[in-house]
Amino acid sequence: PVLFAPERVNSRGFDLTHTPTLDTIDSARAPYFQVAWNAVPLLAGDAAPETPQPVQNPADPADQPGSVAFASPADIETALAAAASWATTAAQRATILTRAADLYEENFGEIFALLAREAGKTLPDAVAELREAVDFLRYYAANAPEDPPAGTFTCISPWNFPLAIFTGQIAAALAAGNAVLAKPAEQTPLIAHRAIELLHEAGVPRSALQLLPGAGAVGAALTSDPRVDGVAFTGSTETAQIIRRAMAENLAPGAPLIAETGGLNAMIVDSTALPEQAVQAIVEGAFQSAGQRCSALRCLYVQEDIAGPFTEMLTGAMSELAIGDPWQLSTDVGPVIDAEARDGIAAHIAAARADGNLLHELRTPNAGNFIAPTLIKVTGIAALEREIFGPVLHLATFRADDLDDVIAAINATGYGLTFGLQTRIDDRVQHVSDAVHAGNIYVNRNQIGAIVGSQPFGGEGLSGTGPKAGGPHYLARFAANPARAAAT
Ligand code: NAD
Ligand code: ALA
Repeated sequence: PVLFAPERVNSRGFDLTHTPTLDTIDSARAPYFQVAWNAVPLLAGDAAPETPQPVQNPADPADQPGSVAFASPADIETALAAAASWATTAAQRATILTRAADLYEENFGEIFALLAREAGKTLPDAVAELREAVDFLRYYAANAPEDPPAGTFTCISPWNFPLAIFTGQIAAALAAGNAVLAKPAEQTPLIAHRAIELLHEAGVPRSALQLLPGAGAVGAALTSDPRVDGVAFTGSTETAQIIRRAMAENLAPGAPLIAETGGLNAMIVDSTALPEQAVQAIVEGAFQSAGQRCSALRCLYVQEDIAGPFTEMLTGAMSELAIGDPWQLSTDVGPVIDAEARDGIAAHIAAARADGNLLHELRTPNAGNFIAPTLIKVTGIAALEREIFGPVLHLATFRADDLDDVIAAINATGYGLTFGLQTRIDDRVQHVSDAVHAGNIYVNRNQIGAIVGSQPFGGEGLSGTGPKAGGPHYLARFAANPARAAAT
């Protein structure tokens, strides 16, 4: 396969500092401020979905952007029976996926509206998400292999990148020629439905791409049927472990599982770091997307010698963040996805408050699923028992002599997704990046927003199986495995 396609370029996105561009975006999304979308199974056969239920706007309990009808057991059977690998050349598949990328870009107004009203995405987050989705389509199209496909792939995605990750998995599986059964997160079916419509419009046949909205039970059915040849999953580590077991019990031996999962991501700031640069990277890494990125910064280690003034600068920057309606251009931090997420994060903050560990907390809007950016004092990363998936940053201090103990504590979590380092000592960059176990290590910048094609993204240990998404090895996992074919 071709592993590098110099003719491909990343999406240009939108310049949000340019007022006429903002006006164009505003007029393009305005017609979608009140419309309601409906998500239903999109099958290559008759559908008999379950009764529709409302989809909620995470920022506004009064707004229902649409409804979703989950796939029924009969729909799952229809999809499994009708799934058929895509009988085309790699070049034809590439043309269709590239056309889909163009359609995504042309429909930016509707997509930004959906990302705001269904997923609570601020405009900068929505712009980044559309760019990433388009980049995945073009990157995997440019690298579409001629090798035989695995067969039928189930793609299961999370709500936090309801367009980019949903599209990335599907684009890779399709580029390799597989039939895809797409199961979006239950919280974000509307944008998934619209994306599949655009992929069908671009020319992907229905038998090669079917949509099965639903909760975990639909995902469970689609990962435990022997007619499935492989699974691409992004979500929590716990769900990946359930899927691994279901596949081992029900699918052919060696069926590939590509799992991209959670993280307990750290950053180390030493006393030589540039404070303004470090603070900006921390605020972006911990609080953009309301902290709902797998890559987000969760535990910050600041060298003791600078901790006092540095923390003051950080809390000052946090106080500048505007929290609220993601549709408003002035908003920096939108809502978390639903009331369950909000209540779980709020309980974590309440426990820290009760223990006297709350360092800084902003005010939350009254309605909607909001959690204000919060800073909590901890002794070290071992105090974080689980990934807190929201705008909550934990701060620990360290003595210069204890740097290797800090690295050991980070590695001992068993996760290994992103890691950040702020220092101006070259030898330290080398030493720390050799010692830390993490898929993506970022030095003197933030640790979010990996760029497709330039920064392949994925973790190790509890954070994922690899290969990295948006990198040269990803597509190979979607091809037929000759050893497995011989064994079955
Ligand atoms: P989740 O595991 O709860 O759900 C993810 C998907 O799995 C959903 O579509 C869900 O319906 C489905 N699912 C649930 N139970 C299932 C089962 N038994 N069988 C099959 N499918 C099932 O995760 P989430 O809350 O939607 O997403 C947040 C998590 O995703 C966080 O842990 C985050 O770190 C992780 N994440 C990782 C990456 C990455 O690239 N590493 C990217 C984004 C999110
Ligand atoms: N790829 C996403 C990021 O880097 C998850 O933030």
